[in-house]
Amino acid sequence: MSLPLRVRIVEVGPRDGLQNEHHRVEVDQKILLVNALSAAGLQYIEVGSFVSPKWVPQMAGSAEVMAGVERKPGVTYAVLTPNLRGFEDALAVGAQEVAVFAAASESFSQRNINCSISESLARFVPVIQAARQNGIRVRGYVSCVLGCPYDGTVHPEQVMAVARELRDMGCYEISLGDTIGVGTAKATRTLIDVVSKQVPREYLAGHFHDTYGQALTNLYASLQEGVAVFDSSVAGLGGCPYAKGASGNVATEDVVYLLNGLGIETGVNLNMVAEAGHAISQSLGRRSSSKVAAAISARS
Ligand code: HMG
Ligand code: MG
Repeated sequence: MSLPLRVRIVEVGPRDGLQNEHHRVEVDQKILLVNALSAAGLQYIEVGSFVSPKWVPQMAGSAEVMAGVERKPGVTYAVLTPNLRGFEDALAVGAQEVAVFAAASESFSQRNINCSISESLARFVPVIQAARQNGIRVRGYVSCVLGCPYDGTVHPEQVMAVARELRDMGCYEISLGDTIGVGTAKATRTLIDVVSKQVPREYLAGHFHDTYGQALTNLYASLQEGVAVFDSSVAGLGGCPYAKGASGNVATEDVVYLLNGLGIETGVNLNMVAEAGHAISQSLGRRSSSKVAAAISARS
C-alpha cells in the first residue's frame, strides 16, 4: 500500500499530555501551550476534558482554557466528553468537536469511566445525538487496543467490535489507542487489518503511547497499512491516570520529523513545535521527551 501524501496530526498534548501531571498546571500555562501549538501549524488541538474533576483533577480548568485560547481560523479546538453533562459544558465554551472514549477491555472501561463497555456506548448515544443537533462532529476513541493493564491480552476482534459500534453510532473517526504502549509493529498491522474489515482505514486514526519505545515504529507500521491520521503529544507528554506506568504519547516533534523525511505533508513547523515543547517541559521542570526536539536544541 502506498504511503499517504498528507497526514493529519491530532495534537493531544494539552489533554492527554497534561491530564497525568502530578503538579498543578495553571490555566495560563495551558493557554500559552495551545496558542504556541496553533502558531506552529497544528490544525487540530485537543485542549482538555470535561470529565469529573474528582477523577482527573488536572483537567478541572478546561472551560477556562477553552475560553482563553486564541481561536486561530482553520484550527479545530476539541475536548473529551464522557457523558451528556460533559457535552453540555463543551458546547457552552464553543468546542468545535468533542470525543467520546470507550475501551476494548472491560476492566479498563470500569477503571477509567466506571461502567462496562456496553454501558459506555449507551451513554454516548445522547452525546452523539446532542452533538448532531448542534452541528458538532464526534470523534471516538477505543483504548487498550494492543493490551490492557488489567486484563492483559486484547484480541483485535474485541477492538473491531467497539470501533464498529462507535462508527455506527456516528463517530466520524475512530482513534485506536495503545494506552499502555505495549504494541509492536506486527501486532499493529494485524490490528488494522482486522479492524478495517468493519471500519475502513480512512476512518481510523492511530494513538500510540511510547511506554516501550515502540510508538514511532507502530505509527510507521500503521502508515504502511494506509492510516493517515495520528494523535501525538508535544514533547511526548502524557499518560492515562487509569493506566499506571504508561508513558506519554509519541512526541509530535518526532512524528513531524519522520513524516518530513518521507515527504509527507503535515503543515507543521518542526522548529516551532519543538520550541512549544521546550517551553511546556521547562515549566513542568523537566526536559522534553522528544529526541528530535533535544537534537534540534543541541545543534543550535
Ligand atoms: P461516575 O462517578 O460513575 O459518575 O463517573 P457519576 O455520574 O456518578 O458522577 C460522579 C460525580 O462526577 C458527580 O459529582 C457528578 O456531578 C460528576 P458529585 O455529585 O459527586 O459532586 N460528574 C462530572 N463533573 C464534571 N464533568 C462531567 C461529569 N460527569 C459527572 N462530565 C465519569 C463517571 C465518566 C464521569 C468518570 O469516570 C470520569 O470522569 N472519568 C474520566 C476518566 C478520564 O478522563 N480518563 C482519561 C481520559 S481517557 C484516556 O486518556 C485514553 C485516551 O487517551 C486513548 C488511549 O490512550 O487509549 C483517550
Ligand atoms: Mg492516550
